[in-house]
Amino acid sequence: MILGIETSCDETAAALVTPEGGVISSVVASQAELHARYGGVVPEVASRRHLELVGPVVREALEEARVGLDAVERVGVTRGPGLIGALLVGLSAAKAISWSRGIPLVPVDHLHGHVASLYLGPEPLEPPFTCLLASGGHTLLLAVRDHRSFERLGTTLDDAAGEAFDKGARLLGLGYPGGAAIDALAREGDPDAYRFPIARVPGLDFSFSGLKTALLYAVRELGDGELDARRADLAASYQRAIVTALTRRLHEAAEETGLEQVAVVGGVAANSELRAALPDAVLAPLSLCTDNAAMIASAARFADPVALPEALELDAYASAA
Ligand code: KG4
Ligand code: ZN
Repeated sequence: MILGIETSCDETAAALVTPEGGVISSVVASQAELHARYGGVVPEVASRRHLELVGPVVREALEEARVGLDAVERVGVTRGPGLIGALLVGLSAAKAISWSRGIPLVPVDHLHGHVASLYLGPEPLEPPFTCLLASGGHTLLLAVRDHRSFERLGTTLDDAAGEAFDKGARLLGLGYPGGAAIDALAREGDPDAYRFPIARVPGLDFSFSGLKTALLYAVRELGDGELDARRADLAASYQRAIVTALTRRLHEAAEETGLEQVAVVGGVAANSELRAALPDAVLAPLSLCTDNAAMIASAARFADPVALPEALELDAYASAA
């Protein structure tokens, strides 16, 4: 079995996955509540919490799978991108397990991990496909031609889609993280109530900062007490603009690559309007959209292990390579 460990942001996660891609156990301890009072993830607070949680979370994943560490044949761990201090906690835990058991360590790129959420059972997707990866930190269009790699077709020039959801939620007074809150509130609102801009940037890139500013102005224009009455309409219209931007570009990307099979991964893939807007797309299962370790173990099935003792020298990286 492959043990996956993920600590790149504010989720401490461990999972056990079979070499065939079956998820035996997947444990995610979210720190979201811990960071909510600050309106975003505080890196130092995240690192300390990972340190407390990583041992118990790995233990729980093993217990849930009813196996001991002796059943683990390789350890896959997120090496980056993410918060450097947070990453180092997971990487150090993985090194310790690898060293003590004498088993290979597989460093995994977090973005590859999101894509590899599609390779898990019971119905794994086979490349090639065009993929939208939309999360709190990234918005990428990818051409995926094999299990090990992808080609970047487009990215965001400013905010990530999830970041746009989170910042929008904050402007609407919905707390952090805000994607799921906007999703829920939008169901009660009119998506045509406001006309929010959809950026037209060249190529297959995205831009969400203008949209965020437009929401800020719309909220400011409302008088005292009016926001309460219009909050659902604002959420619905704002979400509609993000979903339209994402789906448009995904279709354009599929046309450009000729890879007609399309897939969506990452936290924003949990969005109900986005899912409904893409009836023909392969969507990561809800439990595998937001950060988890099953996707990291899945990616470790296809990446190269690093032998001991070289594995002990691996470093984390904060930004996408
Ligand atoms: O993939 P993820 O867990 O973390 C990163 O790698 O960034 O994505 C988290 C992001 C957050 O911005 C969160 O607001 C967003 O995914 N998100 C959603 C929904 N659920 C989570 N955005 C829109 N609708 C949702 N239902
Ligand atoms: Zn992620």
